[in-house]
This record gives sequence, structure tokens and C-alpha cells, in this order.
Amino acid sequence: MLISGRGSNMQAFIEACCDGRLNAEICLVLSNRADAAGLQTAQSAGLPTACIEHRDYPSREAFDAALVACLAPREPDLVILAGFMRILTPVFIEPFFGRLLNIHPSLLPKYPGLNTHQRALDAGDREAGATVHFVTPELDGGPPVLQARVPVQPGDDADSLAARVVREEHQIYPLAARWFLEGRLTLTQDGAFLDGQKIPASGILFRPDDALTPA
Ligand code: GRF
Repeated sequence: MLISGRGSNMQAFIEACCDGRLNAEICLVLSNRADAAGLQTAQSAGLPTACIEHRDYPSREAFDAALVACLAPREPDLVILAGFMRILTPVFIEPFFGRLLNIHPSLLPKYPGLNTHQRALDAGDREAGATVHFVTPELDGGPPVLQARVPVQPGDDADSLAARVVREEHQIYPLAARWFLEGRLTLTQDGAFLDGQKIPASGILFRPDDALTPA
């Protein structure tokens, strides 16, 4: 699991693994920032952590190669980008292609990149949300898997909207990971598939009834 900051999505995975909603083991939490609050959270939860500072590398490719060298020996079934704020190159993406997921705080394909909530507000959107997607070399452009929508409320600012969206992120990301680890979710040349059915271009719409329940 790769993080850069607060790590609330990581925390959602920790809780899902602990209470049996997700039958998985987090083999490593890797940050590109030594000051990421999520590293402390991971250590407190007894998880292995590592830090590889992107500033120590002369290029994105060299940084990505260091990430691969750290992660690959652990042979992860799935690599989770959880608020990892670096653009990845094919040096990282190719070795983990098809088992690399990201969560993006917008209703993809709307608003790839940064400042998604402010952009949604500026556009007068009545809905916002988050999307779990497979990672490909196109920034925030890999096939969507699962999408949660929330209303934009009168008086929202980017922070209040982000808080509403991130609560949904914590629901949908472990669910998508569970689908993957159960072998139900796959990436092929033709896109993302769940149970052999092609997933629509904006991902499967999350409904609260789909929420994971403890085992
Ligand atoms: C989330 O909003 C996620 O969608 C985006 O970065 C934020 C990370 O938050 N990619 P956290 O570190 O998981 O709390």
C-alpha cells in the first residue's frame, strides 16, 4: 500500500482486515514522505513500513525503480495507491499492471488531476464523488471499477465536500479490493470486468446495500 499523507484510506483497509470484511494482509505501507501521518498510523497498527523519498532520486523513473525494488520481493497480490501523490511512470506501472488500484476523489472521467472538489464546485456540479480505478500510464485514466456519488450541498466548500466524499472512499476502496482478491475483478485488454461482465465507463455505481459487512 502506497501513501503520501494522512492515510485515512489505509486506515479503512486496516479496519476492514481486522474485522473480517477483507481477507487480506497488508504486507507493506510505503510512503514517499517521512512525515506522512499515515506512517505513524501504520506503525501503531503493527504493519511493516518503509519510506522512499522521491527527492532523493534524480528522475521519476529512478524513484519508481526504487519503489519496485522495495515492493516486488514481497510479491503483493494487489498494490493499493491510497493517497499516493506522485505521478507514476511505466517503470512502476508495468511490473504491477493489472493488480494496481487507485482511488481518485472525483466522478471519473471528470476531473482527473488535482483540486477535484474545487473544480466540481466551480462547475456548479450537483454531485461529486470518488472512483476506484485500475492504474494505467494515463494519469487517473485507467478503467474505473467502482464509483460512489454524494450530493453537493448548498454552502459546501472544497473541505466540506472532500469530507463527505472521503467517507464514501472508505467504503468503496476495500470493497473493490475484496472483489479483486476474490478473483472477481480483472483487467484485460478490453477493460475492467467484474464476474465476467464488462464494467461501464464510469465504474459500477456503489449502493449502500453493497457495503461490506464484518465476517
Ligand atoms: C483521498 O481523497 C484520495 O481520493 C486521494 O487522496 C486522498 C487521500 O486521503 N487520492 P487519505 O490519505 O487516504 O486520508
